[in-house]
Amino acid sequence: MSARETAARETAAPGAGAHRTAARGTEAGGTGPRPSPDPGPRPLLNRRLAEFGTTIFAEMSALAVRTGAINLGQGFPDTDGPEEVREAAVRALRDGRGNQYPPGPGIPELRTAVAEHQLARYALTYDPDTEVLITAGATEAIAAALLALVEPGDEVIALEPYYDSYAACVAMAGGTRVPVTLRPRDGAYHLDLDELRDAVTDRTRLILLNTPHNPTGTVLTRAELAAVAELAVERDLLVVTDEVYEHLVYDGEHTPLASFPGMRERTVTISSAGKTFSFTGWKVGWVTATPELVTAVRSAKQFLTYVSAGPFQYAVAEALRLPDTYFEGLRADLRRKRDLLSAGLTAAGFEVYRPAGTYFVTTDIRPLGESDGFAFCRALPERCGVVAVPNAVFYDHRDQGAPFVRFAFCKKDDVLHEAADRLRRLAA
Ligand SMILES: Cc1ncc(COP(=O)(O)O)c(C=O)c1O
Repeated sequence: MSARETAARETAAPGAGAHRTAARGTEAGGTGPRPSPDPGPRPLLNRRLAEFGTTIFAEMSALAVRTGAINLGQGFPDTDGPEEVREAAVRALRDGRGNQYPPGPGIPELRTAVAEHQLARYALTYDPDTEVLITAGATEAIAAALLALVEPGDEVIALEPYYDSYAACVAMAGGTRVPVTLRPRDGAYHLDLDELRDAVTDRTRLILLNTPHNPTGTVLTRAELAAVAELAVERDLLVVTDEVYEHLVYDGEHTPLASFPGMRERTVTISSAGKTFSFTGWKVGWVTATPELVTAVRSAKQFLTYVSAGPFQYAVAEALRLPDTYFEGLRADLRRKRDLLSAGLTAAGFEVYRPAGTYFVTTDIRPLGESDGFAFCRALPERCGVVAVPNAVFYDHRDQGAPFVRFAFCKKDDVLHEAADRLRRLAA
C-alpha cells in the first residue's frame, strides 16, 4: 500500500457513527472538523469500499520481502500441517473425489465430521444435513453470514480491535459497524459489558463476536460469554461468532457461545481448518447453526463461491477425526512458541500482553519511547530486520490502538529465536 493509499485509508470517514468519525479525525492528526472533500468524478471503486485500501498485511509482507526481514506480521505457520492429512488430500485428488463441483452445502463426509466435532468437544448437536455448511474458509462464512443477515440501516456490533474482513463485510452488506473496544488492563484485554450493553440500539441486528480473539489473544471467559448471551436473548439479537482459534487456547478454555442458554437458535458459529490444522491455503471453513440460519447463509454463499476446495474437504474430514494427541500437541507447541516470543519481546523492552489464545502477541511500544505503531512498524525492518503489524489498523477508534503492535508466533523455533535476538537491538 502506498503512503497515499494508507493516508486515504487512515483518514477516510467510515460514515458510520459520529463518534467513530471523530476518533479517526484525531488519529489522522486533525484538530478540528475537516473540510468536506470535493466529491469530484465518481470513483471506480464502490464507495462502500472506499475506506478499505490494500490490507496492511500486503504492505508489511512486501516490506519483509524487500528488506529480507523476518515476517511476524501475517498469521500463517511456516510449517505445514500433519502429513497424513496432506496424504488424504493427495488420495482424494488421485481417486477423483472432489475434482468436480462438490455439493453446495459441502461433502456429506465433512459435514458429518464437523457435527461430530461439535458434539464430542462441546456437547452441541447439529444435523449434518441441515445445520452444517462448508465454506471457502472462515472468510467466506463471515461474508456470507453478514450478506445474508444484514440489511442497509442495520447496526452490527463488533469487538474492537477486529479482524479486518469484518468491517469490509459489514460495509458490503450496507450495515453500520458499531465497535465495542476491548481495553488493556493488568496484562490482558477485557470486554466492558456495560459498554456492550450501551452499544445495543433498536437498529442492532447482530453481534459479531470473535473468541479466541485476534489480535489481542483474549479468550472470553464463561462469565463474559454468559453476559453476551443474556444480552442477545434479552434484546432478541442474532450473533455471528468467529471461533477459528478454538483449538489454540493456552490458558483457560474455549467455550462456544452457542452452548449458552437461548443461544443455539440465534447463533451462527464459524470455524475453519486453516489455524487448527496449519493449512491456511486450503480455505476450508464451516458454519454450524439452525436450519433456518444455515439456509439464509447458504443463500448468500451460493453466489460467492458456490463451492470450493473439493479434494481438501475430504482431507479436512479426516483431520477433524485426528486423535486428541494431535490437538494437545498443537496447543503445547504453540504455547511454547508463545512463551519464547513473549520472553524475547519483554527482553527487548516491549510491554507484552501474553495471549491466552490465538497465535498473536500484542505489545505496547511505549516503554521503548515510541507511540505511533504505524511509524514503528514501517521502521522496524530497517532497524532490526523484523516485521510486525500496527494494531491501529484493526480499530475504528485508531487512537486506542496507536501504541500497540502485533507479532505472530506460529513460526519455527529458530526463526523466533533469531527474531528475539534481532529485537533485542531495540533495547540497546
Ligand atoms: C479472526 C479470524 N477470522 C477468520 C480468519 C480467516 O480464516 P480462513 O483462513 O479460514 O478464511 C482469520 C485469519 O487470520 C482470523 O484471524
